[in-house]
Amino acid sequence: MKIITFEGIEGVGKSTQINLLKDYIESRGLSASIFREPGSTVIGENIRSILLDSKENLSKESELLLMFAARAQLISEKVKISNTDFILFDRFYDASVAYQGFGRGLSVDFINNLISFINCPQPDLTFLLDISVENGFKRKIDDVKDRIESSGDEFFENVRQGYLEIAKSQPERIKVIDAMGSIEDINKEIIKEVSKLL
Ligand code: TMP
Repeated sequence: MKIITFEGIEGVGKSTQINLLKDYIESRGLSASIFREPGSTVIGENIRSILLDSKENLSKESELLLMFAARAQLISEKVKISNTDFILFDRFYDASVAYQGFGRGLSVDFINNLISFINCPQPDLTFLLDISVENGFKRKIDDVKDRIESSGDEFFENVRQGYLEIAKSQPERIKVIDAMGSIEDINKEIIKEVSKLL
């Protein structure tokens, strides 16, 4: 089983690309499941509502621990027993380093300890779809912002820079793709990398 994760700030087009990649994998006679984080289990989706819809003032520490509670549930309930050839994640633990570490300013060392504590498997490949904060939010102009999306431009600049730093430190695993390209071009770039895993 191979794990591929998709990362990036809001509006980069992750969901479109994940679905196109799933179609490609299946066209090669292989199977793939898609998980989104936080979520993809009953408990995880309940936690997601608290994280995204809560009107309460959720502390940044609670936010981090809830992300990991949802992730721990997903790993133990679904990832560990998955028998598909590929698991495609719409965000995984790099998101916690970028959003809660670089964005909220929580300790990256502590986050790395949580990653080990819940036995997160290491992805075989990660695509970081990169876009400026301005262009990302332009694409979501008609959407109502959820709790995290309402965190402001400075927060998202830090998240974006955080992602780029994580990518720089692990260039073998993390491929940075310019998310301003066309859907077709980005899909081609992704398939080129994924073909190496087939
Ligand atoms: P999305 O599924 O629409 O991308 O929403 C998930 C939101 O949660 C998004 O704003 C990113 C955020 N998030 C974190 O802050 N930390 C995490 O670890 C994960 C997985 C997501």
